[in-house]
Amino acid sequence: METVIENMRESISEEGIRRAGEILRQGGLVAFPTETVYGLGANALDPEASAKIYRAKGRPSDNPLIVHIAEWEAIGKITEELTPQAKLLSDAFWPGPLTMVLKKSDAVPYTTTGGLQTVAVRMPDNAIACALIRAGGGYVAAPSANTSGRPSPTTAQHVAEDMDGVIDMIIDGGPVSIGLESTIVDLTEEVPVILRPGFISQEMLGRVVGEVRMDRGLLSEDPSVRPKAPGMKYRHYAPKAPLFIVEGERQRVQEKINELTAEESLKGRKAGVIAAKETSGSYFHAVVRTIGSRDQELTIAQHLYAILREFDHLEVSVIYSESFETPQMGAAIMNRLMKAAGHQVIEV
Ligand code: TXA
Ligand code: MG
Repeated sequence: METVIENMRESISEEGIRRAGEILRQGGLVAFPTETVYGLGANALDPEASAKIYRAKGRPSDNPLIVHIAEWEAIGKITEELTPQAKLLSDAFWPGPLTMVLKKSDAVPYTTTGGLQTVAVRMPDNAIACALIRAGGGYVAAPSANTSGRPSPTTAQHVAEDMDGVIDMIIDGGPVSIGLESTIVDLTEEVPVILRPGFISQEMLGRVVGEVRMDRGLLSEDPSVRPKAPGMKYRHYAPKAPLFIVEGERQRVQEKINELTAEESLKGRKAGVIAAKETSGSYFHAVVRTIGSRDQELTIAQHLYAILREFDHLEVSVIYSESFETPQMGAAIMNRLMKAAGHQVIEV
């Protein structure tokens, strides 16, 4: 299959959106930018179309998709029951990087929800995404547009690396603004539960709806405590080289990483290091990538996946990363980094 690349970096092309919408209506696949990461879209209400997403990504069929809508009114058709919390949270954060899990209606096929009775819904804050959703019939199922197991794409080039020749179209809207997937909150229980941390923090949600909990499966290192979002149990975002997070007092972390990377270089291999701007000049035996300044957490989020992909290309033998516990997005950044590392942490 030939994958058409539509360039909309400078401005939205009405004609391009019309063509992309037509592809979705006919059951095809279109990758598109959102504010979080690039999505791989299909008509969410067409079981055959959403089945194509699983095939294109190599995604397990029990891992449900998020349904994207472009206006609040659209939610009624796909949900059985709208809780007051859903209205409050959508007023506060939509369009934006928040996904809500609600009881599904019969309109949503089980292929889209991975067999679950619930549906995840999100209204993205991106003009191209919203135009595409409207042109495609109003309901677009879209996981991140990467091959299953690879870091989520934050540019159209990343999408092309994984999906060229596999899907009908990629809309290039330039680099995304957040860089990590949306916060997922489950509203089917009495107290809302965060299934995946993101840009919208627990505290921000709490200010709108009161008590909000974190899914136990996210916090626990015990593999028998399963996360409630099926996708969170897989080792996602995995770079090719093993990744270790080095944690502890800053000076000690630098010494430890220098020691480990020196050993690697003595063996004739090349290590990679992920470091904050403040400390990236202190590593001497490795390929160092600066993720951003510690006081600019959005920059850190924006760069994480691109750096993991770059290390795949550079074919480093091992990656050591500093840790980045920042105030708002720290939980999300460290959740993704920990998953990429398969929870391998070196404490110093
Ligand atoms: O920012 C985002 O959310 C991006 C953009 C494209 O919108 N999408 C995204 O989709 O990250 P995906 O498929 O890569 O991740 C969806 C996550 C998975 O972990 C999945 O298990 C979970 O959402 N999920 C989807 N529906 C669910 C449901 N009904 N109950 C629990 N978890 C659900
Ligand atoms: Mg994903």
